[in-house]
Amino acid sequence: MYALGVSCYYHDAAAALLHDGVLVAAAEEERFSRLKHDYRFPTNAIRFCLEQVGIAGNDLDYVVFFEKPFRKFDRILMTALQTYPRSWKVFRESMISWMIDKLWVGTTLQSELGISKEKVLFCEHHLSHAASAYLCSPFDEAAILTVDGVGEWVTATCGVGLGNEIRLSKQIEFPHSIGLLYSAFTAFLGFEVNEGEYKVMGMAPYGVPRYVEKVWKVVHQNRDGSFSLDMDYFCFHESTERTYNRKFVSLFGEPRPAKLQFFTKETGFPKNFGDPPGNYDELCKLNQHYADVAASIQRVTEELLLNMANHLHRETGLKRLCIAGGVGLNSVANTRILKETGFEQVFVQPAAGDGGGALGAALWAYNSLLGKPRSFTMRHAYWGRSNSEAQIGDFLRQNAIPFRYFDDDDELLNHVVEGLAQGKVIGWSQGRFEWGPRALGNRSILADPRNPEMKDIVNSKIKFREPYRPFAPSVLAECAEQYFDLAQAQYHDPARYMLYVVPVRESHRSTLPAITHVDGTARLQTVFGDQSPRYYRLIERFGQATGVPVLLNTSFNLKGEPIVNTPADAFQTFFNSEIDALVLENYCVDKAQVRPHG
Ligand SMILES: [Fe+2]
Repeated sequence: MYALGVSCYYHDAAAALLHDGVLVAAAEEERFSRLKHDYRFPTNAIRFCLEQVGIAGNDLDYVVFFEKPFRKFDRILMTALQTYPRSWKVFRESMISWMIDKLWVGTTLQSELGISKEKVLFCEHHLSHAASAYLCSPFDEAAILTVDGVGEWVTATCGVGLGNEIRLSKQIEFPHSIGLLYSAFTAFLGFEVNEGEYKVMGMAPYGVPRYVEKVWKVVHQNRDGSFSLDMDYFCFHESTERTYNRKFVSLFGEPRPAKLQFFTKETGFPKNFGDPPGNYDELCKLNQHYADVAASIQRVTEELLLNMANHLHRETGLKRLCIAGGVGLNSVANTRILKETGFEQVFVQPAAGDGGGALGAALWAYNSLLGKPRSFTMRHAYWGRSNSEAQIGDFLRQNAIPFRYFDDDDELLNHVVEGLAQGKVIGWSQGRFEWGPRALGNRSILADPRNPEMKDIVNSKIKFREPYRPFAPSVLAECAEQYFDLAQAQYHDPARYMLYVVPVRESHRSTLPAITHVDGTARLQTVFGDQSPRYYRLIERFGQATGVPVLLNTSFNLKGEPIVNTPADAFQTFFNSEIDALVLENYCVDKAQVRPHG
């Protein structure tokens, strides 16, 4: 039996295909369309899923959409009407986009896939989130926490999964939303909503949470973990352009201009920004204020989630917790939940945001609705498209790109390790691309984490990012505990997907300067020999050569672009940056040969 899950029309459109309840393919649309956070109907991702197993649309038994469009439309309509006429613009824009396609997604699915109406099912948004974590977790019974911006009406739920059933017993409704609260601060700090949340999380360690009390003025939490926003400070419910209002500004000051370069006394002036400006000291002070705001909203978000999780633990008495929804990508909060609540094990799958809703919707239909036993546990993130050796060879030859081909895998790995140890930055593409926003060794840029200059090199020559974005380490799972403060690291699934941030052990902070963030932490990825054997061997070899089985791993893309998919995407990124060598399976391209004069 084939069940296809689909999510789209908000952000991160995606498709995920199950065969007899086992995931066989999953991908976000942006990887194909090359449009970051592409929210449109995922034609390409669906086509990929079908091609991966060689079936046509009408071979599908069920197609499951990740939310209920009419219920969502109800919320948008009701909210716009309640705040009319202030919301006239929201109202007009919503009517246009909903009337054109969003309401009729069922019909679109039928016509695109050539299937009958009976095969199209709809799962509630937060149930899709809950299912996307619990039903592919290794747990037979677990508490469930879902937290995001907003689905139809709901913004957070608590519940329990038992066998193949999910019971969500409590929920919080729009406009009270932790996701939208965090997004309002993301916008205030000059970043793009739904994109810049990671930047807020990365900026927070540069600040002191001195505005926590002020943040608690705009959000209130009850003893049972439920919460509400003071809507006097926000306007996301009545505006398409602004999320916070003048009252918010009177509390936190003027918003951070989007173009203001970020640096503080602690970071110094980044080399890749050029010469320091004349008003350097003044700008350091200003940025410090914004870093303090970032630290404050991050701290309150963690407290909100900790209180919810603690209450859920007390109520259920369960030892295991599944987290989903966009807020589940807040790796710092996930780690505090593990360490500061009664839950002993946490599961988050790599596409915790709305893309993951496609997976959840399909799993819910198969396991919960049809009552079929659970037969799938997610152990890795490699569910996307792969490039065959023939495709790579054809691409390189057709474009007259000089390459070296390694027949022998070991020889290739030794060659790459040698380059890394010499300080080279490598673009690395192998196997199927990752599910979710993180690159986990199949579409990654790799470098030596021991080199104190490497953070600056990768930032200035390749990623063109600001210093608050730390680089992550990939470490052999069984060596993780030696370098990072995470007891029994290999038993914690979120660490497979960079969804925990933990302290780097004091004794190794000077060994690993390029992946140690300003507060001494790192967003580690544990790499397993049985799930990613070739990447595992690469790190192992690097460890044998240098004594440190850790690599710096950042996503294979340029700033603002989706992570690469095809050989052409990878080559373009390689060519337009200062990456020294490109490895596509066993093909190796050297920058010196492609661009001999720099
Ligand atoms: Fe969501």
